Amino acid sequence: MATMKPLVTDLVSTLDHVPSNFIRPIGDRPDLQLQFTTTDSIPTIDLQGLDASNRSEIIQKIAHACRNYGFFQIVNHGVPEEVINNMMSVSKEFFNLPESERMKNYSDDPLKTTRLSTSFNVKTEKVSNWRDYLRLHCHPLEDYVHEWPANPPSFREDVAEYSRQLRRLALRLLDAISESLGLEKDYINNTLGKHGQHMAINYYPPCPEPDLTYGLPAHADPNVITILLQNDVAGLQVLKDGKWVTINPVPNTFIVNIGDQIQVISNDRYKSVLHRALVNSEKERMSIPTFYCPSPDAIIRPAPQLIDNYHTVQYKEFEYNEYYNKFWNRGLSKETCVDMFKV
Ligand code: OGA
Ligand code: NI
Repeated sequence: MATMKPLVTDLVSTLDHVPSNFIRPIGDRPDLQLQFTTTDSIPTIDLQGLDASNRSEIIQKIAHACRNYGFFQIVNHGVPEEVINNMMSVSKEFFNLPESERMKNYSDDPLKTTRLSTSFNVKTEKVSNWRDYLRLHCHPLEDYVHEWPANPPSFREDVAEYSRQLRRLALRLLDAISESLGLEKDYINNTLGKHGQHMAINYYPPCPEPDLTYGLPAHADPNVITILLQNDVAGLQVLKDGKWVTINPVPNTFIVNIGDQIQVISNDRYKSVLHRALVNSEKERMSIPTFYCPSPDAIIRPAPQLIDNYHTVQYKEFEYNEYYNKFWNRGLSKETCVDMFKV
C-alpha cells in the first residue's frame, strides 16, 4: 500500500496495523518471545582514570570487550549530564514539531550532509523499517552547523556542544583502542585523514505490530566506532554467540561499538558485530548514535604491524569514500559490507 506520508511519525496515529510495505518475510521477523528475557549483557567499562593510573587496566578491559563482543558500555566517560539531557530533549522536541516544519529537512538522498529521512535508504530497499531519522555531519563543525535545523531554537547550540563533547570522547577511545591492539596511541587517529563525524537522531514511534517489522534490521556499522545514547526504552540488540542480546538502557551510559573500519585496520583482531533495533507497541524510542569516521579521501588498510605469518593480510586497501557509498547502496543485510573488501 502506498502511503502519502513519508515519515512513520506522521503515519502512526492513523493506523492499527502496520502497512504491508513494513512487513518482513516470515523467517526474518523479530522473535518477541525471546526478547528482553536474557540476562547477559555487554561489558561495562568505567573510564575513570583512563588518562591516569588506571590506563593499562582499562585498556585490557577494552581489548577483551572488543575481541569478544565488539560492544561495550561506558560510565564516567566525562560528558556532562546536562549536555546529554539537552541533546535528548532537543531531539525529542524536534520530532514533536509539526510535520510541515520537520519536512523542511526531508531528503531521500543519502549523500546529503543534513537530512531528515525514514527507514534506511528508501531508494534501494524493498521492505521499510519503522524508523525516522535526522542525520547530521558534525566535523568540522563550522562546515555544517548552518545547515542544521534552526527549529527548535536551541537545536544548533545544544547539538553542537554535544558533538564537541562526543568528538573528545571518540578521540580518547581511539587512542585506547589503538593501544589495546599494541599499536602506537595515535595510530588510528593518523589513518583517518581529516576525520569525519556523523550523527543520527533515530526516532522509533510506537508500532501496532512490532513482531512484523524492525526499527532497523541486522547490520554492522560502516564507520570506525559508534557511540550510542539511548532513551529509557529498550530495543537495541547485539548478536553474541548466535543469540540476540538486549542492551537495557542505563542512564548516563554510552554504548560503544567497533565499526567495519576497525575490523579492517585491526586485520580481523576486532570484529564489527551485527546489531539491530526492535520496536514496541507502547512507547516511542529514541537513540542517538555518533558515527566517528575517516574523511572520505582517507586510505584504509590493515595496520602493517598486525600482519604476520599467523595473521595474513585480510583486506585490500581502499578509499573510505568507496566503502561508504557501497554501504548506502546495497541496503542493510547480514552479509556485511566488509566482506566485499576481503583480499
Ligand atoms: C544505527 C543503529 C541502533 C539503535 O543507527 O546504526 O544501530 O538502537 N541504531 O537505534
Ligand atoms: Ni548500527
